[in-house]
Amino acid sequence: MPLVSALPELIKAQSGGYAIPCFDTFEMLGTEGMFAAIEDKRAPTIVALYAHSVEAPNAKAFAAFIRTMAEKATVPVAFILDHGASVEQCVKALCYGLTDVMFDGSKLPLEENIANTRLVVQMAHAMGAAVEAELGHVGLGRDYSFEAQRKGFTDPAVAERFVEETGVDALAVAIGTAHGVYKAAPQLDLELLAEIKRRVSVPLVLHGGSGLSEEQFRAAIAGGIAKVNVFTDLGLTAGRQLVAAAGEPNASYFSMTDTVRAAFRARCGYYLDLFGASGKA
Ligand code: 13P
Repeated sequence: MPLVSALPELIKAQSGGYAIPCFDTFEMLGTEGMFAAIEDKRAPTIVALYAHSVEAPNAKAFAAFIRTMAEKATVPVAFILDHGASVEQCVKALCYGLTDVMFDGSKLPLEENIANTRLVVQMAHAMGAAVEAELGHVGLGRDYSFEAQRKGFTDPAVAERFVEETGVDALAVAIGTAHGVYKAAPQLDLELLAEIKRRVSVPLVLHGGSGLSEEQFRAAIAGGIAKVNVFTDLGLTAGRQLVAAAGEPNASYFSMTDTVRAAFRARCGYYLDLFGASGKA
């Protein structure tokens, strides 16, 4: 199965009431575990390369590895740039063979975010790629308080205008999540999500998935979220299991590498089931 743009699967998820997970990846062993889970679960999935990874010296080789894995997968896999920092970086990612890009202009003044997102959309659409953008700002879990987050929440009226003026294919919204480990228990503003969904027809995206409860995931997906981004939990789980494996009497180099693969396989499988993506390929 060739690599595919995420958009058709996101549209199916949106109408089917489930979500496609988007897993960031930083190295090969975890990626192998991720692909094993995708096959186990027969689930359409999005694999993501974070913005700074695209600037790393091995970026082109790592992207080629992920592309190769996706091309031999038997289920649809999209490969997206996560939090693209500039128009140029989005161009670079598509030249490296990624299928889609997220452009993150969420820290820019609104008009600049609109102008840059529109440019990315024109360029990416010409190459057959879909574009996700962020409106409002999803902050960091280490600074988290629900009240402080509110300052960056997505304004539904602005979201409607943003989607219309940019032509973006999917929209990341700020409704209470944050990236990384949460300093305080996360809360979601589901009424705000409902209002955004009323005004915006493109698939909606939730970043900062790690640390939400199963009930919160289910409510967000029922409320219209069609893509959920997760990484921190995958990294923490693999890290904990590596530490435990290193303490085993027969610990070895290969028991460590197997542990990373197994941790990603199990944890990605868990999210594929939880989000309802399993069996949808
Ligand atoms: P977490 O690492 O908090 O799960 O967030 C992932 C994310 O949103 C990447 O874009």
